[in-house]
Amino acid sequence: MTITIVGASGQIARLLHPKLIEKGHSIRGIIRNPEQAKDLIKLGVNPIIADVEQMDDISEPIGNADAVIFAAGAGPGSGAARKWAMDRDGAIKLIEAAKKNRIKRYLMISAMGLETPRGNEVFQAYQQAKAETDEALRNSDLDYTIVKPGRLTNDPGAGKISIGKSLDRGEITREDVASVLAEVLEMPKAIGKEFDLLSGSQPIQKALEDFLVS
Ligand SMILES: NC(=O)c1ccc[n+]([C@@H]2O[C@H](COP(=O)([O-])OP(=O)(O)OC[C@H]3O[C@@H](n4cnc5c(N)ncnc54)[C@H](OP(=O)(O)O)[C@@H]3O)[C@@H](O)[C@H]2O)c1
Repeated sequence: MTITIVGASGQIARLLHPKLIEKGHSIRGIIRNPEQAKDLIKLGVNPIIADVEQMDDISEPIGNADAVIFAAGAGPGSGAARKWAMDRDGAIKLIEAAKKNRIKRYLMISAMGLETPRGNEVFQAYQQAKAETDEALRNSDLDYTIVKPGRLTNDPGAGKISIGKSLDRGEITREDVASVLAEVLEMPKAIGKEFDLLSGSQPIQKALEDFLVS
C-alpha cells in the first residue's frame, strides 16, 4: 500500500515508518519543515512539504494513496487556537482530502478519556478538538479506525497492551502505539472501530484480535 502520513516527523510517526516499510508499504510523509526531509529520506519515507494549518485544501499533498494516517498534533507548547486549527481542523482537512482523492482507509491517533474533559482550558480545548474530529470521522463514509492511547511515554515498546471500549487512565509507549497502528492498518475487522489503548499484558496481535471479534 501507499500510505500518506500527516505529521510524518512526529515521535510516533518516526517509530511507525520502519514498521510500515518492513511490511512492504511505501510512505508519503507530510511535514511542514523542509529541514526534516533529509532524516525522513534516510528512513525510506518520501517527504512532502505542506503546512496543513496554512492550507484550506490539502488534497494535493495528500496525493494518491491507499490509506491516510493522522499522526500530527499542535503539540504540548501550543495554545487553544492551534488545538482547533491543527488537532481538529487539520484532521478534518485530511478527511476532506481523503474523500476528494477517493482514499477510503483513515487511521486516526486520537486520545482516551475525551468524554470527560479535564485539566486547564488549553487541555480541555485539545480534548474537545480531538472529540469533534472523532465525531466527524464516525459520520464520514470512510473506513476509519480511531486509536485512543493514554498518556504517551518514550520507553521502549513492550509489545504487550490492553485494549477496551473504555479503560481507566494510564499510559503506553509511543513504540507500542506505532506497532498497533501498523497492525490495524491491515485488519479489515478494525474498520469502523475505535478503542482505548494502554500498556498491558496481552501481545499486540492477540489483544487486537480478541477485541475486534468482541
Ligand atoms: N502526548 C500524549 O500523551 C498523547 C496522548 C494521546 C494521544 N496523543 C496524540 O498522539 C498524536 C501523536 O503524538 P506524538 O507525540 O507522536 O506527536 P508529536 O511528536 O508532537 O508530532 C506531531 C507532529 O505534527 C506536526 N505538525 C504540527 N503542526 C503541523 C502543521 N501545521 N502541518 C504539518 N504538520 C504539523 C509536527 O511537526 P513540526 O515538527 O513541524 O512541529 C510534528 O511532527 C497526536 O495527535 C497527539 O495529540 C498524545
